[in-house]
Amino acid sequence: MVKQLSAWLLVLSSGAVSAASVVEQINQNAHMGVATCASSVCHGSSQQFKESNVWQNEFARWQEYDPHANKALQALRSAEGQAMARKLGLGDATQAKVCLDCHADNPPADKRGERFQASDGVGCEACHGGAEQWLTSHADKGVPHADNVAKGLYPTDDPVKRAELCLSCHMGTADRMITHRIMGAGHPRLSFELDTFTWLPEVTHYEIDEDYIARKGDFNGVRDWGIGQGVAAANLLDTLTDPRHGWDGIFPELVLFDCHACHKRMDSKRWAARPGTGLGPGVVRLNDANLVMFRHVLAAVDASAASRIGTMTRGLHQATTQSRDATAAAARSLSAEIRRLLPRLAEASWGGDSLMPILDSLLADGERGEFVDYASAEQAAMAASSVIVAFETAKAIDAAKAEQLRARVDAVYERVKDENAYQMGAFVNALRELRRAAAQG
Ligand code: HEC
Ligand code: HEC
Ligand code: HEC
Ligand code: HEC
Repeated sequence: MVKQLSAWLLVLSSGAVSAASVVEQINQNAHMGVATCASSVCHGSSQQFKESNVWQNEFARWQEYDPHANKALQALRSAEGQAMARKLGLGDATQAKVCLDCHADNPPADKRGERFQASDGVGCEACHGGAEQWLTSHADKGVPHADNVAKGLYPTDDPVKRAELCLSCHMGTADRMITHRIMGAGHPRLSFELDTFTWLPEVTHYEIDEDYIARKGDFNGVRDWGIGQGVAAANLLDTLTDPRHGWDGIFPELVLFDCHACHKRMDSKRWAARPGTGLGPGVVRLNDANLVMFRHVLAAVDASAASRIGTMTRGLHQATTQSRDATAAAARSLSAEIRRLLPRLAEASWGGDSLMPILDSLLADGERGEFVDYASAEQAAMAASSVIVAFETAKAIDAAKAEQLRARVDAVYERVKDENAYQMGAFVNALRELRRAAAQG
């Protein structure tokens, strides 16, 4: 009686908690490794077996044609995959959990059998579930499919379950999250349709015949198409409302929105780090052009205050990836610091000796890669120009020199004339020329 009651309570409590996720189901039991399935009397035959319910050449087909075997993990080794992981600060892509979760069969260490090999890519058990408990029984024709499923065989025949499985990698879920940051580092956009993808010849190692229908019921493409759409829609809404994944700092997770609402073209892939922000790819940045220029002007008056503003600006950028509260706190203290420093600028003499520190500060930012954004380059061009004009007006430099410098400023401006043709390298070169001319006595 007690035993029955506790079993009943267990059922109740597991029902109250939401059902196990795909990844939990797949990783419920140990993964025995593709080698375990690949024997020629199991799934590694070179020919289809005539007398069997299943082809038994699944391994051979998988190995030869299936991108899950021969491309998924390779993508992480490729120059493209390696560059992506580097930009995200993940190190080697083939060791990064977030990448391996979708590009390989990646169960936790204690769920890996002796013959399991991480190098197998998206192997059999990434879709069919860890085989520890059903390995023996699933080869016995007398054991019904449902019994194997109860032992952890993933029900790939059930269209809802199959949609959840495929979409966990082909769209991303709370357990296997693909983010706008990963997209920003150059990851291809994901798109998936259950019925089409189930039957693309490179992945099929199954067919619907009489014995299949007897064992598992019929397939219907229209049904699967509809179910695939429904599961994907619910998945998007669940992620959007998931407090862990629906937000990225002060912004909603942008991967859940229509890419073309913001991107007119999707092929730019020009992201490069901007050290002054400390932010990775795919992060929406605050417009800090004025903050940056204030720091350069300040360099002529108080170098250590300028570097403090730089540190606080970086802190503000970081805060936007944390929370609204952190952002508000960082913004308030930075604003107070600027107001505290303004009188210093008002009191300074701004003689000829202030010219070089400002140009040096601008150029140092340029050399560090700070002007990857068009907006900050445009501000820098205006700053360079006002500095030269101001010194000329104040007669801090003579007319001949002023004319020479104005030609250099024009060259700087030329580099920001067309936003779509902007190139940081050329812009920084023009700044360098301006600084060199100014430095000549
Ligand atoms: C949510 C699952 C998911 C995550 C997380 C993920 N990927 Fe992918 N990735 C995919 C899928 C699915 C494709 C295939 C897209 C297609 O062509 O339909 C792909 C494609 C790629 C490609 C292009 C491969 C080719 O053959 O053209 C590269 C490179 C890549 N991913 C690298 C990475 C790296 C590096 C990471 C980690 C930073 C990563 N991926 C994280 C699912 C994922
Ligand atoms: C990307 C996911 C995926 C991978 C990887 C995968 N399968 Fe499958 N497999 C499926 C789907 C989907 C079906 C068809 C639906 C069903 O009946 O379960 C299927 C069907 C089968 C069937 C036929 C089942 C039947 O009752 O007729 C066998 C046998 C099989 N897979 C073996 C393997 C083996 C062996 C491997 C590894 C070499 C493998 N699969 C890798 C998804 C996968
Ligand atoms: C563990 C993650 C994972 C699971 C689960 C998974 N896939 Fe994939 N799939 C991938 C990755 C990664 C690629 C990309 C391989 C490449 O081209 O680099 C891919 C590629 C494919 C392709 C080739 C697509 C193309 O654009 O060329 C098809 C078709 C496909 N998967 C179908 C399915 C189906 C159907 C399911 C569910 C039964 C499924 N996949 C489950 C990770 C997965
Ligand atoms: C709300 C606006 C918004 C949406 C929606 C959005 N993005 Fe972005 N995306 C941005 C911003 C802003 C950046 C720039 C971040 C930076 O400059 O570092 C960016 C950067 C990128 C980059 C890097 C661009 C480059 O030049 O290297 C890629 C790639 C990208 N997004 C892909 C996508 C994809 C794919 C989607 C849809 C799944 C998407 N974005 C949705 C705003 C958006």
